[in-house]
Amino acid sequence: MHFSVKPSTARLGAFVSGLDLSQPLLSGTRAALEAAIAEHAVLVFRDQPLTQDQQIALARSFGPLDLGLKRVKKTASRFRYDELLDISNVDVNGEVAARNTRRVVSNLANQLWHSDSSFQKPAARYSMLSAITVASEGGDTEFCDLRAAYDALPEAWKRELEGREALHYALHSRFVLGDDDYTDEQRAELPPVAWPIVRTHPDSKRKLLFVGAHACEVVGLTLAEGRMLLMDLQEHATQREFVYAHHWQPGDLVMWDNRSTLHRGRRYDLSERREMRRTTTLDVDGDAGGDHATHAEEPSAQTA
Ligand code: OGA
Ligand code: MN
Repeated sequence: MHFSVKPSTARLGAFVSGLDLSQPLLSGTRAALEAAIAEHAVLVFRDQPLTQDQQIALARSFGPLDLGLKRVKKTASRFRYDELLDISNVDVNGEVAARNTRRVVSNLANQLWHSDSSFQKPAARYSMLSAITVASEGGDTEFCDLRAAYDALPEAWKRELEGREALHYALHSRFVLGDDDYTDEQRAELPPVAWPIVRTHPDSKRKLLFVGAHACEVVGLTLAEGRMLLMDLQEHATQREFVYAHHWQPGDLVMWDNRSTLHRGRRYDLSERREMRRTTTLDVDGDAGGDHATHAEEPSAQTA
């Protein structure tokens, strides 16, 4: 099928037109979309209102699906699939949730720069977020290009980062926001995982700077020094020149590559309804090839 890909004016992101995502994708179309996302990292499709079934089917054509934090917090859902994530401030009864509820706090964690599910192995490969109800003001989603960020690092930093790994922990971003009421069992459910800070994107073969809100320590550095390094790297990676900001319209579907980008939601009035639905594929072979940490030690199992 023919479709067109028009790059955004930012360093990353492209607009795709000429496809109907409610229909099954031909394998050639899927491969062409994978090639486009390898290049542009973020693909925007306008006017694609999808049913729950259609969004699940679309995502499954790109690989097995992720449950993310639902493995820790088994909360009631409004949806027919566990793999359809409710990215909204709406409670199970369909009402706008009170701002002090965990659903809202958990959703606020999406406003920290992150790569989906980097706290687990396999982590996320592609996320697909579809907009049902958008905020009247604010509520954009921003994406930064971790490959451009790596390229722009001073040479001395590149040398310093060779072979370095960071630990990514699922609840770290929640703790940062004061949401720390978890049992020992929940805290241990998703133990921290280590990722090289410099990784190679398997499709574009470009090096990238893998940081974000789930990264909580650097292996081999003191906690304080590691956190300062991570903050410094994230500040570098999220400079405006590496960012595409998506302004949502209902019916938009945005697909991004979690291996080459970080993203964050932007603030909006929490008394207004904002409803999005996400499906995410697992980066099933993402732990193999490309990412060679040079040190031999295994990080000790730590909980944050
Ligand atoms: C997500 C996410 C940001 C937003 O769905 O993974 O981080 O703007 N969303 O809702
Ligand atoms: Mn996210």
